[in-house]
Amino acid sequence: MRKIAGILLLCIIFSFSFKDEPACATASLRQKASFPVGTAINTEKLKYEERYWETALAEFNSFTPEKVMKPAFIHPEKDRFDFSETDQLVKFCFENKIRLHGHTLLWHKAEPHWLDDFEGNAEDWEQLMKTHIQTIVSRYKGQVKSWDVVNEAFNDDGSLRKTIWLKNIGPSYIEKAFFYAAEADPEALLFYNDYSLEHLSAKLDAVLDYLNGMRAAGVAVHGLGMQMHVGLYFPPAETINTSAARIAAEGFVVHYSELDVNLEEAPLFSSRKKINILQKDRVKAIVSGFMQLSARQRFGITLWGVSDNDSWLMEESVRSRPLLFDKRYRQKPAYCGFLEAL
Ligand code: XIL
Repeated sequence: MRKIAGILLLCIIFSFSFKDEPACATASLRQKASFPVGTAINTEKLKYEERYWETALAEFNSFTPEKVMKPAFIHPEKDRFDFSETDQLVKFCFENKIRLHGHTLLWHKAEPHWLDDFEGNAEDWEQLMKTHIQTIVSRYKGQVKSWDVVNEAFNDDGSLRKTIWLKNIGPSYIEKAFFYAAEADPEALLFYNDYSLEHLSAKLDAVLDYLNGMRAAGVAVHGLGMQMHVGLYFPPAETINTSAARIAAEGFVVHYSELDVNLEEAPLFSSRKKINILQKDRVKAIVSGFMQLSARQRFGITLWGVSDNDSWLMEESVRSRPLLFDKRYRQKPAYCGFLEAL
């Protein structure tokens, strides 16, 4: 009897200690994928946190800077740019053969405060935007080969968001931003990036209309970033796939640019193990859908962070646990789901 109790106890201890162990660990994401697999990169953590950079380097071959290329960071005063962090990151990526995707030249949420005080007519504003874009793009010409030129410029209903650029330049500011980016680096791949493009929304229609109009006018735009901040259930995988197929059919390359699968809406009384499996299935379905695109239109899938510890969503809710590695950088079932889909 005692023996049986002892064995039982051992089984329980055993099962607990392996509770979060992955079911797969054979290859890294970057080794197995036929397209670049990326992460949003936090340059502070890359410098100072060993587990962070080890995982980032082992698993990913594309980085998107999470903060340091955003306008407020890189252009802190009207006549001063701060390239210190980005220069280091560009060098790091070059040395480690990692693609660096530029993010982002214009974004209403990260415009510098000095912009609010700028006064001038439409022409002055356009000149200001041109200088901002071209100073950054030309500095990294040939090194940063792709850019999110404009981020989140449309509302969900398809109207243009009232950004400071719309107010001062008018609706053509998006087209002009792309024009100036291409002028600074004609070889670069230029993207429009947004959320809610995953479901067949009025926003997706409006964005495609605008970009097609731009192309018809001879202004280069190559790709669309579908941010893919999704939950467990919405939008359904079929809807995501149909949206991606539609974007591809219009001739754009597709970037799942900020993927995370928020677990906040997971069933409340489910075990962590079960929830992790739901997340795994969700990731697998999303990646399988991406695999249906033609190889030349798969720009890549970028996770919005390395581990759950690094996710912007964890600041909102600790239940979100949206990424492929847990807080201790151990592979989660979602990681296996990603690999299995490749
Ligand atoms: C987020 C970062 O993750 C945060 O650290 C930062 O404070 C705010 O921006 N859409 C985008 C990303 O395009 O740049 C945002 O990143 C998340 C939403």
